[in-house]
Amino acid sequence: MTETLTLRRPDDWHVHLRDGDMLAAVAGYTARQFARAIVMPNLSPPVTSVAAAESYRNRIRLAVPEGMDFTPLMTIYLTDDSDPDEMARGHEKGVFTAAKLYPANATTNSAAGVSDIANLGKVLERMERIGMVLCVHGEVTDPAVDIFDREAVFIDRILTPMVRDFPALRIVLEHITSEQAAQFVADAPPNIGATITPHHCIINRNAMFAGGMRPHAYCLPVAKRERHRIAVRAAATSGDSSFFLGTDSAPHARGAKESACGCAGIFNAPYAIETYARIFEEDGVLDRLEGFASEHGAHFYGLPLNEETITLRRSDAVVPDRLDGDLVPFMAGETPGWSLD
Ligand code: DOR
Ligand code: ZN
Repeated sequence: MTETLTLRRPDDWHVHLRDGDMLAAVAGYTARQFARAIVMPNLSPPVTSVAAAESYRNRIRLAVPEGMDFTPLMTIYLTDDSDPDEMARGHEKGVFTAAKLYPANATTNSAAGVSDIANLGKVLERMERIGMVLCVHGEVTDPAVDIFDREAVFIDRILTPMVRDFPALRIVLEHITSEQAAQFVADAPPNIGATITPHHCIINRNAMFAGGMRPHAYCLPVAKRERHRIAVRAAATSGDSSFFLGTDSAPHARGAKESACGCAGIFNAPYAIETYARIFEEDGVLDRLEGFASEHGAHFYGLPLNEETITLRRSDAVVPDRLDGDLVPFMAGETPGWSLD
């Protein structure tokens, strides 16, 4: 049994770093593992301009502990009124790596998101032309659609027509949770990719109700039936370059999770790469971890591979119940089996 595992340094293609005190608390967890991360723009107010993204990027750089080499890759939050020129200017300037589509009211801080995809016509046309990546939160918000079906219905109602109308648009279906999403992306051309979180490889929807309500297992898109977990995990570990690492680490203060209306989000950044290593090892494909974690995403985004490496070592370390006073990490009380040197 291998005792150490050395990998090309990975990237996180989907993370919430937040702002202010929360940013200061969590930035180091991401920066110690990942060379780069696609940073979600769902702040309050959301990041909708080049100036706001530059200023947020500076705050992130300041929050990263001394000595850690980390590049935040910024995204613009799309709204019904997004200006294609502002978006393209930010992309040209190297500020925006991607644009993020939140259907209005789909999740945390998405009230200013897009209420009708028809409003994005000019934006998507421009993105397709300039080769800018669209990151998609793929859930419909129609209250008549069961919450466990919202991703599959999004694929039928929104994503399929979008791919037909903008065939060269580079789209990442974020944090996939269903067999329909895994199948859609596997069958799609190479300009369509997907990120996969550690938690959607490990928990199914029962985790939210194990002996009582478990707010720390609640995120959006919500975890689904076991057969969906198996399909998502199989996609992650398949070696298919359409699938890549995106933690969707989404910290909320404990009180905001353990509440009558708890926030969606799982805080998995502290042991993310260790948890992915466990998944790939359990499935007998540890040799495919590096592709998923460190290569497929960079290829998709057209960015160079990282040259540095990281080393994981076998370990009995237990994930703490609390971090930074008030945050409950994913896998609290469990042993990922690996530790980052
Ligand atoms: O669980 C989630 N938390 N899903 C999202 O889409 C947003 C995120 C957050 O920002 O808390
Ligand atoms: Zn997210």
